[in-house]
Amino acid sequence: MFPLAKRFEKIPPHLFAEVDRLKREAVARGQDVIDLGVGDPDIPTPQPIIDALAQALKNPTNHRYPYQAGSMHYREAIVRFLKRRYTVQLDPVNNIIPLIGTKEGLAHFPIAFVNPGDVVLSPDPGYPAYVTGTALADAELHRLPLLKKNKFLMDIDAIPDPVRTKARLIFFNYPNNPTTAPADLEYFNKIGRFCKTHSIIGAHDAAYQELFFEQAPTSFLQAEGASEIGIEFHSLSKTFNMTGWRAGFAAGETSLIAGLNRIKTNIDTGLFLGIQEAAAFALDHVEELSAPMIELYKKRRDAVIGGLNKTPIRADIPSATIYVWAELPEGMNSMDFAIKLVNTKGVVVTPGAGLGTACTNYFRIALTATEARLAEAVQRIGEFCKNEML
Ligand SMILES: Cc1ncc(COP(=O)(O)O)c(C=O)c1O
Repeated sequence: MFPLAKRFEKIPPHLFAEVDRLKREAVARGQDVIDLGVGDPDIPTPQPIIDALAQALKNPTNHRYPYQAGSMHYREAIVRFLKRRYTVQLDPVNNIIPLIGTKEGLAHFPIAFVNPGDVVLSPDPGYPAYVTGTALADAELHRLPLLKKNKFLMDIDAIPDPVRTKARLIFFNYPNNPTTAPADLEYFNKIGRFCKTHSIIGAHDAAYQELFFEQAPTSFLQAEGASEIGIEFHSLSKTFNMTGWRAGFAAGETSLIAGLNRIKTNIDTGLFLGIQEAAAFALDHVEELSAPMIELYKKRRDAVIGGLNKTPIRADIPSATIYVWAELPEGMNSMDFAIKLVNTKGVVVTPGAGLGTACTNYFRIALTATEARLAEAVQRIGEFCKNEML
C-alpha cells in the first residue's frame, strides 16, 4: 500500500461519498431511486451529430494523432460560432485550442501559468476542477463566496489587498453552476478591468452558456480588456448531450492559448479528430440543435419550481443551466438534508455544503429526468418536509 502524494491534501476528498453510498444501498434494497445529483443529460446526442461522427470515422486521416492544435476545420467552426453568437472575432490558429472536455482544460490551465505561492481566486461554491488545478500547481486558493445578496456574483471589491497582490488567476463561471445565476456584460467588464489593472488572468468557464431560457448570455470575450487578459472555456457536453464524448475548447488571448497548448503537449495528444469533425458540425448548427433541449429543460424547470413552491423550500426561477438551486430554511445543513432525503425518499440531490462553505443551506436539483419523474421527486421532497416538520 503506497501513500498518495502530499498534494492530494489540498484536493478535497469526494464530499458526496456518503450520499453516493446511501444511493447504492437504496438501489440494492429495491427502492425506486430518482437521481438528480449529477448534471448528466438523460437525452441522447442529436442524431445529426452522431451522423457527422459516423461520416468522419470513414476518413482514415481522422484515425491519426490529433495533436493539441487539432483540426483546422474544428477551430474554424469555433471561430464562426463565436463570431455569430457573440460578435467576437478570433484567429483559429492563435486564439483557439480544442479540449478533451472543459474539465481537463480548467484543471491543466493553472499548471501553465501559476507558481507555488501565487494565489488563484475561485468561486465558492464552484466546480471542483478550479480547486484541483490550483492544487496541482502548488498554488494557494482564495475562495470568493457567491451570496444571494450579491445575486451570486463574486464580490471582487472585497478581495483583501494582500490576497489581490499575490493573485495571478481568477476563475469564474456564468451562467453559474450550481447557483444558476447569470452575469451581464457590465459585470464582465468589471472583472476585465480588475484583471487588467492588476495583471491577473481572467478565466471564464462558459460550460452552460448556450443553455439559457429567456435572455441570451454574454461572453467574457466581449468584455473590456478580455482580449488582453482573458480566456474562455466552452463545453459541448451539456448543450448537445455529449458528456461522454469529451468535447470542448478554449478561446482567448494568444499567450494564454499557447501556455495551455504547452502543458497539454506534455500531457495528452489531443481530442480524437472524428469527434472534432462532429463537434464542428454541432457548433455550426447550435441554434437548431439546442432549441428543442432548451424547450424541454424549460418545461422541466417550471414543473420543479411549481412543485417546490408548495413546500417550505425556496427556489428562484433559473434563467439558464440545467439546474434548480433550492434554499432550505435558515440554519439547515444541505448535507444532512441530502443524506436523509436519499435514505428515506430515494431522491438524490447535490448538497451545496459539498461544493464549498458559502451556501450550506442550498441544494441543487439537476433537470436530467423526465417531467413526470421530476414531479414525483418534488412530491417526495414535499412529503419529506412534512415528515421532518420543516
Ligand atoms: C461549471 C462546469 N464547468 C465545467 C464542466 C466540465 O464539463 P466537461 O464535460 O466539458 O468536462 C462542468 C461539468 O459539469 C461544469 O458544471
